Amino acid sequence: MKLSIIGSGYVGLTTGACFAEVGHEVLCVDNDEAKIARLLKGEIPIYEPGLSEMVLRNVAAGRLRFTSDTHEGVRSGDVIFIAVPTPPQADGSVDLSFIEKVAREIAPAIDSYKVVVDKSTVPVKTGEKVAETIRRYAPDADFDVVSNPEFLREGSAVADLMQPDRIVIGVNSDRALARMQKVYEPFVAPVLVTDINSAELIKHAANSFLALKISYINAVSAICEASGADVLKVAEGIGMDKRIGRSFLNAGIGYGGSCFPKDLAAFIAIADDLGVPFDLLKEVQHINTRQLDRFVKAIRDSLWVLQEKTIAVWGIAFKPHTDDVRCSVAVDLVERLLAEGARVRVHDPKAMDKARQLPIAGRIEFCESPEEAATGAEALVIATEWPEYGQVDFAAVRAAMQAPLVFDGRNLLDPLTMKRFGFNYRGIGRAPALPLS
Ligand code: UGA
Repeated sequence: MKLSIIGSGYVGLTTGACFAEVGHEVLCVDNDEAKIARLLKGEIPIYEPGLSEMVLRNVAAGRLRFTSDTHEGVRSGDVIFIAVPTPPQADGSVDLSFIEKVAREIAPAIDSYKVVVDKSTVPVKTGEKVAETIRRYAPDADFDVVSNPEFLREGSAVADLMQPDRIVIGVNSDRALARMQKVYEPFVAPVLVTDINSAELIKHAANSFLALKISYINAVSAICEASGADVLKVAEGIGMDKRIGRSFLNAGIGYGGSCFPKDLAAFIAIADDLGVPFDLLKEVQHINTRQLDRFVKAIRDSLWVLQEKTIAVWGIAFKPHTDDVRCSVAVDLVERLLAEGARVRVHDPKAMDKARQLPIAGRIEFCESPEEAATGAEALVIATEWPEYGQVDFAAVRAAMQAPLVFDGRNLLDPLTMKRFGFNYRGIGRAPALPLS
């Protein structure tokens, strides 16, 4: 099929590449001409495992093209996907101006029956607004609007798209449904067909539930610390119940990234707007904030004052296998340490370039390796659980540090092994093996 994707960011570009990979003819559109120019030269603006190869392969095969001309995108596609940002506003509600602009722009270019699919994360009832807008600017246009939320995770976006848990299609016409089924025919995954409002709601409800699971285990981790239990064992025991499941029960310094914090705030605002407040989600947010507070307090309690202390931070991306530092809790943590006067030495395997663009960059020492970051440090903090941090030579790290304090904000390391290397190790919710002598 001929597919156009308006918006070539994380979701748009990865979706476009995967659609091309399964044989569709895909045109990726973006109004950022510099980005399109880079893509045309074969430069991929984001790091995502497998993406670069997939883009280049499909460009070479003639199935994936790029343009900054939205009208060309609309004219050449049977199905037009909207994958533009939906950033948060100061009050947590969603800024839908990019979506509205795209709806206005595509309207006059609709010259035959088109299926306009919203892939961006949007509040329930946005589909109705998109249809209304297109009709206002092109009263005779022949089109249907569909909601098709995306569930990919950064760091595993290609795999998530190629083998999704489910495909949700919110639709109100058979004609549009038939086209959408054809789009997804090459994918082996259960397809859930719903009305448009339900599909939109599924996305916010799913992300909020996952964030709730994380905050739940983080709240349990505080009880573990206070009572001498081990949160890893507790999570394992809870997770063995098939009704609950083990995933997203990893205690840590909190969830971050460009989705959970934004989507939770949005869902709270949407519920408020509909007159049905969702206070449970406010507590999910509070637990997330408190988790970082507790972690910083633990570091402060050990070092007494942070002023002039050298602290190594391993990991600045919001999670492993990505270079994305947007709303990263690791960045929040570094800001908190800097604010208390600490000297912060940072390493990340992939996110150093993006971290160098942060406002706090001038106040951080960037290091080429985890060992270099730890050199001379009075404490080592693990903020992102990159697997390679589990493989470093800890004897050398111990020898290079001024004091043997390790704060593992992601429970990456084994407490007993760290003790054998001579570290005072502290994880999250892991009191028994972790006496800070
Ligand atoms: C999340 C969802 O998982 C995707 O399904 C969704 O499509 C995406 O948002 C989106 O809306 O676009 P993502 O933000 O890429 O994906 O990353 P996650 O793997 O969900 O991690 C989010 C945050 O939760 C990270 O900071 C991670 O460290 C944290 N986390 C995750 C935990 O603290 N504990 C866990 O057990 C799992």
